[in-house]
Order: sequence, then C-alpha cells, then structure tokens
Amino acid sequence: MIHTASLVHDDVVDDSPTRRGAASTNAAFGNKLAVLAGDFILARTSIALARLRNPEVTELLAKVMEDLVDGEFKQLKNTKQGDHEKPNMSTFEHYMDKTYLKTASLIANSCKATAILGGNTASIAELAYSFGKDLGLAFQLVDDMLDYTTTADEFGKPVGADLKLGLATAPVLFAWEEFPELGQLIKRKFSQPGDIEKAYELVWRSNGIEQTRKLAESYCQKAINAIQQLPPSQAQEGLIQLAHKVVTRTN
Ligand code: FPP
Ligand code: MG
Repeated sequence: MIHTASLVHDDVVDDSPTRRGAASTNAAFGNKLAVLAGDFILARTSIALARLRNPEVTELLAKVMEDLVDGEFKQLKNTKQGDHEKPNMSTFEHYMDKTYLKTASLIANSCKATAILGGNTASIAELAYSFGKDLGLAFQLVDDMLDYTTTADEFGKPVGADLKLGLATAPVLFAWEEFPELGQLIKRKFSQPGDIEKAYELVWRSNGIEQTRKLAESYCQKAINAIQQLPPSQAQEGLIQLAHKVVTRTN
C-alpha cells in the first residue's frame, strides 16, 4: 500500500500520463484527487499497521514513509555537484543515497518487518534487511537503465522521462566521466533546446549503460550472498530467483 501511494504521488510530481500500461491516477482524475487518493491509501496503511500491535514494525514502516519523501526531496534537488566539471564520489554517493531513500528503504525495511513478524532473531532480521536493501538498489539502477534502453510499450510508462525531468541518473553520471561536457548539461538540468538529445546520444556512445547494468548485478549478487547465509529452502530459492529477475527484467 505504501508503494502504491508513493507511485500515485510520484506520477503527480513527475506529471506522468501513464503507469503500468494504463492512464495514471492524475491523468484519469486530475492532480487534486490523485494526491488525496495517495493520502487515503496512506491513512488505511496506518490503520493496518496499528492493528499489528507491533511497535517495532510500526516504527520501521513509518521510517519508510519518511525516507520516501526525503528521497523525493533529494531527487528534486538533483545533484548538488552539478557545477563541477567532472563527477566525483559525492555526486554518485548523493545519487545512491537518494536511491536508497526512494526505493531500497521500502524493500529493506519491509523484509526486516516480515522477519520480525515471523518471530525470527535480530540477526536474521538484519540479513533480511540487507537482502532487501541490495535488491532495492539493484531494482532502481535497472529502472534508471531501462529509462534509456526500453520502449514505452514494454515499460508501461514513458521512457526517456528522467532527462526530460532534468534528472541525472546512473547512466548519465557514468557517461559524464567519459564526456566532461555533460557536466554543463547536468548543471542546467537539460533545460536548453537540444540538451536532452545531446545527453541521450552521449550516454549511448559511452559505457554508462553497461556500467549501470554491472553495478546493478553487483548489488544483486550482494543480495543473494545475504540470503544464502540462511538454511537452504524453497523460499530461499524463490528469493534468489527474484534477485536474478530484477536484473534481467525488461519492464
Ligand atoms: C518512483 O520513482 C517513485 C518512488 C520510488 C518514490 C516516490 C515517493 C514520493 C512521491 C513521496 C511520497 C511518499 C509517500 C509514502 C506517499 P521514478 O519516478 O524514478 O519511477 P517511475 O519511472 O516508475 O515513475
Ligand atoms: Mg516517476
């Protein structure tokens, strides 16, 4: 429910016309109703959480909601290093920090919460958290890559959306290492005529897409390593398959 509410709100923020191959809530009902619909889902979420009568799990999921909004704020600010000629560690760290907040926190803390609700030990709950965190980071890296590589029909939402929104994600940040002129475009958030087309072309001429895929694969492997510390089971096998699916998906 938190995920659904965040996407309903995200489509308002991004002014997106489609989601999962259909009209977005904002496109179908307008921004005001979409914001209220997201709020309503969150209200119902709070009731469901309270009914669990588990303060630790309630706190974990409340933190997820805070992280989602924090991540969205950080994304709106884009990169704080935009005025440097070359990307540096803090540019990428800022992107990964934002990625944890807007995507990985939900998966990590949900995995941890289910481990706690299942009556597991604190160390197993931490393994579940690690699995979810690395899976979430891999998921968003792939999402940011697919924004460059797939089609709107396959993706079920607009492609090339990030550059249009002024967002510098992993493919363009990696490409910036090879093509320093991207720094200026990133700084002005691809706002000048021709910026989007230029950035798109340089990303495709660079190794940015391949580097993004490799980074996603390394997080996916970290997630698998965490889950492999648990005793073998059908559930473990399912989670490993899920991790593989995250990096091979096309939509
Ligand atoms: C999708 O990102 C958006 C998110 C993962 C989080 C959005 C969070 C908010 C709007 C804050 C509000 C939070 C709550 C709990 C209601 P994206 O735009 O990169 O992905 P997309 O291409 O699927 O739209
Ligand atoms: Mg969006």
